[in-house]
Amino acid sequence: MRFVDKTVVVTGGSSGMGLAVASAFLLEGANVAICGRSQEKLDRAAETLNADKRILTAAVDVSQVSDLDRFYRQVSDRFDHIDVVFANAGIGVLTGLGEVDEATFDKIVGINFKGVFFTVQQALPYLTNGGAIVLNASLTQHQGLSDLTVYAATKAAVSQLARSFATSLMSRCIRVNAISPGVIETDMIEGMGDEKLQTLSREIPMGRLGRSEEIAKVVLFLASEEASYITGEDLLVDGGRIRLSLWQGA
Ligand SMILES: NC(=O)c1ccc[n+]([C@@H]2O[C@H](COP(=O)([O-])OP(=O)(O)OC[C@H]3O[C@@H](n4cnc5c(N)ncnc54)[C@H](OP(=O)(O)O)[C@@H]3O)[C@@H](O)[C@H]2O)c1
Repeated sequence: MRFVDKTVVVTGGSSGMGLAVASAFLLEGANVAICGRSQEKLDRAAETLNADKRILTAAVDVSQVSDLDRFYRQVSDRFDHIDVVFANAGIGVLTGLGEVDEATFDKIVGINFKGVFFTVQQALPYLTNGGAIVLNASLTQHQGLSDLTVYAATKAAVSQLARSFATSLMSRCIRVNAISPGVIETDMIEGMGDEKLQTLSREIPMGRLGRSEEIAKVVLFLASEEASYITGEDLLVDGGRIRLSLWQGA
């Protein structure tokens, strides 16, 4: 019960990693506010979380600063202050370089980069000194990926934000870290199909995809006192995909 009387905000908390993180924080005693674009998905998530007065849901598009402003006012009205922010909302769009049109570019950048920047900036008046922020980047920032050019670049930007935010918020003792998940079983990768996912699994040294619950454990660690000397870090959670090689010389 590391988060009793703490308030946690999770953007994109209606499915996947965000939902698993919200659930883990609730289990450890926190009040949790989740947002996403679809109220229907949020209602389903709230039903799953079954936490009554300790959960707040709000339909918010993180690419709209006015939505974030309204969201934080709601959170503050209900829970007073905020202790932890998990800036997680994001979209993945598989598109070849030649097919990226302006609207697609603006949408991915608007949610994955602008959204993360303003999720943190707009939270600042409500964040307690000594709080923690975790950003969701991705292992794709370390790879050249022909179908994820814009997505991977937004995740490199998120990783960089973690360092600049950490420096900016040092005087308030607010730690800021990022995580870079590998391939995690969520709605986002569902459309890729079994065959492609099996091929991907074989490329991962641990031989399997990651689970949202495994990401949740890392986010809670980074948000907790156990990580009191870690800030500006970007932690790979990818089953060894980036750092290890399956190549055998013999
Ligand atoms: N799955 C992976 O393999 C993987 C790997 C590395 C990093 N990531 C990152 O992990 C994060 C979470 O993704 P996930 O895999 O858990 O996928 P997911 O299940 O699709 O979750 C995405 C969440 O973000 C919300 N969202 C999307 N656009 C939003 C917006 N404009 N405003 C507010 N909420 C928005 C979605 O709800 P609505 O659709 O209702 O808005 C949903 O709650 C993303 O940033 C993603 O890039 C995923």
